[in-house]
Amino acid sequence: MNKKIAVIGAGNVGATTAMYLAEANLADIVMVDIIEGMPQGKALDLSQAGPVRAYNSMVYGTNDYKDIKGADIVIMTAGLPRKPGMSREDLLNMNADIIKTAATNIKKHAPKSFVIVVSNPLDIMTYHMQKVTGFPSNRVFGQAGVLDSTRFCTFVAMELGVAMTDVQSMVLGGHGDTMVPLPRYTTVAGIPISELIPADRIKEISERTRNGGGEIVKLLKTGSAYYAPAAATVGMCKAVFNDEKRLLPASAYLTGEYGINDIYIGVPVVLGANGVEKIIELKLNKSELTALQNSAKTYKEHLQVLGY
Ligand code: LAC
Repeated sequence: MNKKIAVIGAGNVGATTAMYLAEANLADIVMVDIIEGMPQGKALDLSQAGPVRAYNSMVYGTNDYKDIKGADIVIMTAGLPRKPGMSREDLLNMNADIIKTAATNIKKHAPKSFVIVVSNPLDIMTYHMQKVTGFPSNRVFGQAGVLDSTRFCTFVAMELGVAMTDVQSMVLGGHGDTMVPLPRYTTVAGIPISELIPADRIKEISERTRNGGGEIVKLLKTGSAYYAPAAATVGMCKAVFNDEKRLLPASAYLTGEYGINDIYIGVPVVLGANGVEKIIELKLNKSELTALQNSAKTYKEHLQVLGY
């Protein structure tokens, strides 16, 4: 294939992302990791699934960033995951250095690429990635809202015993404890959930969504979620790759929208061949807007830790 997608980090999120990407038959895939042999081994294994799973994407593994040369899209998954009891923000300093190295290499070897950041703390790492690469902000964005929204959809489907695919939802804000699930924008086949689920249960489901990643960290004990994060990432990647103009929540750079400036945070965007083609400004009510602005405020403080 003449198109190329690079996945930085071949751990659970990176390798699962590569698997879903291969199954989508979009492009050849190169996985980069610092552990010798690991990305190569996983890549060979994934390639060998191709004849059975009917895909033609070749998957390559490497320890050398120069092999991302010419990638159309780079997906940044490298970084330490949370352990039980940790917040995503506890990873700040450890993962910032990893982002810096990756960003420097992306700038050098894939200067025209779109970058989708998945590493945590997501919104801060996406900002860091954009600053270090110097890429225009439409080409650097973060995966989080799609994951948080798919979690919300799943819990609503479980609650009502309806098809997952009939539920649509919107979760905004930072990918952390301050995220903002929006029940008002959550529907089942167009029917607002307020007509189907009692208010106190909606509150509990929103809370479970907010703690969705933490619930899995607690169960796994040795790492964090990866199937849903990878699936969400590949959904975004396809939107860009195929110019789908999907309206999805993503961590995007704001310049005054929602009264928020110079920060990456989860908002609805249109994703297409130019990356973030549009930021959608919803008419949030007072409490929703305050929640979003408060979420942004915590990230401003975290950015200061990194010297921004
Ligand atoms: C989660 C991690 C990946 O939400 O942030 O599962």
